Amino acid sequence: MNQDQLKAAVQAYWNKESCGTSVTQQSKFSKIYFDEIETYRYEIEPEIFSFAQFTRYYGKRVLEVGIGAGTDFIQWVRSGAQAYGVDLTPESIEHTRQRLMIEQLHAFDLQVADAEQLPYPDNSFDLVYSWGVIHHSPNTEQCLRELVRVVRPGGTIKIMVYNRRSLFAFYRYVLCGLLKGKPLRSFKNILFYDQESLGTKAYTMKEVRTMIKQHAVTIKSLTAPVTYHDLLGYKSRIFRGLASFAASIFGWQRVGWFMLIELKKNKD
Ligand SMILES: C[S@@+](CC[C@H](N)C(=O)[O-])C[C@H]1O[C@@H](n2cnc3c(N)ncnc32)[C@H](O)[C@@H]1O
Repeated sequence: MNQDQLKAAVQAYWNKESCGTSVTQQSKFSKIYFDEIETYRYEIEPEIFSFAQFTRYYGKRVLEVGIGAGTDFIQWVRSGAQAYGVDLTPESIEHTRQRLMIEQLHAFDLQVADAEQLPYPDNSFDLVYSWGVIHHSPNTEQCLRELVRVVRPGGTIKIMVYNRRSLFAFYRYVLCGLLKGKPLRSFKNILFYDQESLGTKAYTMKEVRTMIKQHAVTIKSLTAPVTYHDLLGYKSRIFRGLASFAASIFGWQRVGWFMLIELKKNKD
């Protein structure tokens, strides 16, 4: 499969159902539909707030890349940012448009676009934010190049990518490798074929540092805090206890599924 075919598969996957929308049975695009998606999201992924810091960007030009159902995007708009949003899928853009309409809010721009080729000039934004997106795109390095290109010198880039050295990645290995009698499957292979859309990647911190080194940016922070997904929040107490024990041994800020990367674009 070449990169174009892979991207088409990624697009088809996310266009069928925008990320995080399966948690509600309410009528599509109703207010309660969006409310339930939002409540569930921040209940299980509260780290988004401290990472994104939505309210700090009042009046700033913010681009979100890969907006999904628009739950974070609406936070930028509510916070008074000049919010621009793109996603590879029309389904995502439609979700976000409907949501803005219900709340009578306004985005500066919303469009279907590819993170590997952003439709904005160089140095356009104060902040570029992308949560759980660029590891799904076939050419993640090209996405990063684009995020850096469109942020202004001195501006900030906040990205979440999956962490291969995480408790959650280990559970995926147990489920899709060990328990299926395929212990030789690598973490990379399991995540590529069995984690959300085809071609999903996850990185080690070392790989991320190497990738970032190619760009004119400074790392402000790089952590992988243990999340609900790593702590098996939906399992019984015994599993949760074991997961917490593992996190204590391997590091609460190192073995989380979400690798949080904050970068500053260099001025020269
Ligand atoms: C896991 S979802 C995350 C969505 C949202 N950021 C969230 O946290 O709910 C991945 C999203 O990335 C989008 N995506 C994948 N590849 C992309 C690309 N090359 N350009 C733009 N969006 C992309 C998908 O369409 C999907 O909406």
